Amino acid sequence: MYPDDNSKSRALYERARAVLPGGNTRTTVHMSPYPVYLERGAGCRVWDVDGVARIDVINNFTAAIHGHAHPVLTQAAQAQAALGTAFGMPTAAEIELAEGLAARIATVDQCRFTNSGTEAVMAALKAARAFTGRAKIAKCEGAYHGSYDYAEVSLDTPPSAWRANAPVSTAYAAGTPPAVLEDVVVVPFNDVDGAAEVLRAHAGELAAILVDPMPNRAGLAPADRAYVQALRELADEIGALLIFDEVICFRLGPNGAQPIWGVEADLTTLGKVIGGGFPIGAVGGRHEVMAVFDPTDGKPPLPQGGTFSANPVSMRCGLAALDLLDAETFARLDRQGDRLRAAIDEAFAAAGLQGHATGMGSLLKIHLAPQPVRDYRSAYLDPEAARRLKALIVRLLNEGVIVAPNGLMALSTPMTDDDIEQIADAIRRSLAQLARQ
Ligand SMILES: Cc1ncc(COP(=O)(O)O)c(C=O)c1O
Repeated sequence: MYPDDNSKSRALYERARAVLPGGNTRTTVHMSPYPVYLERGAGCRVWDVDGVARIDVINNFTAAIHGHAHPVLTQAAQAQAALGTAFGMPTAAEIELAEGLAARIATVDQCRFTNSGTEAVMAALKAARAFTGRAKIAKCEGAYHGSYDYAEVSLDTPPSAWRANAPVSTAYAAGTPPAVLEDVVVVPFNDVDGAAEVLRAHAGELAAILVDPMPNRAGLAPADRAYVQALRELADEIGALLIFDEVICFRLGPNGAQPIWGVEADLTTLGKVIGGGFPIGAVGGRHEVMAVFDPTDGKPPLPQGGTFSANPVSMRCGLAALDLLDAETFARLDRQGDRLRAAIDEAFAAAGLQGHATGMGSLLKIHLAPQPVRDYRSAYLDPEAARRLKALIVRLLNEGVIVAPNGLMALSTPMTDDDIEQIADAIRRSLAQLARQ
């Protein structure tokens, strides 16, 4: 049972605290009183250092769509490792993955690879600035796009700073330069009129509108089609680029998120699943915009490098991961996601608790809130709800299911319908226990 002061995880955490601040090197995996340390994974299960097996529904924060140690991906990684893992020269692998992405995403003619989604978003924002000659960017309140200063603005604006229809640019990290806040315009999510008013007020200054159509940190509620389509029209009206952040949402379908929302983006940012379990990010778009990276005639408008960018291990494993994602696989993930969302809603009702699941396809999020979640503000957890969510996550851990600390869940292709039922059962039991508290 977690927590256990005599566990090997606890001992590792104590050791970690000496050499890693707070014993941690990735804020998102921090857990109090200590995190569970993993030893290995296979399929949709992981084993911790104390030998406990659990179903993994975090899947490295949505990246591991094929679960762990998938034989095809393991083989791809081993084969490339035997040939060399990274060179100071290009390999054919980067062309093949770029071709694979261009074949799937209608608005991507060309790509540029990075090592993370954070860097992909940074490159996209810089590309939009280089292309338009403008400095400001717009983003949605509460939406997470990685840790580039500009992309982090307004990530956790507290209720005390909320103003009606007028999101404010607040700093997420201490020490964020004031100039960053001046260059980021925050729009409300899922509110066409509110967003239009803010965007028009900054017309002529904005290089890009950055949007994730189903932002996890802002509640994992799908954007209304009308909202995303309005952002497209507003981008054209004010001469800004529309950037679709599909670092998570690309896993919603064979061609990513844009066909689902009926929108064509100018730039698309990718990451996570396209690396087949290895570090990756990518920005893609039309030739005309991607030309800002082109060094053919000397220094390009936007020079971009990265020692491990386009390393052939990430490229080869990414390609192998994409090849495993056919229409039938997405249809199964969609069906399983719908089944689990319905089971979660039923479990809340059966336990007599307020709450529900949001999300689409293989992405889900548990909310302990009575109100429907549409945006950052309706998803906001007060301290009591945050405490109850944490209690639920710990109960689930002890029921053999790993869910992200913020309630996010991502299904993986090795999951069978029986695995989905096991997850649903664990949620039923955990909610029933929570109700009795
Ligand atoms: C929508 C979105 N964009 C960007 C990122 C940053 O990606 P990475 O963690 O690979 O830097 C994330 C990470 O969770 C994300 O969810």
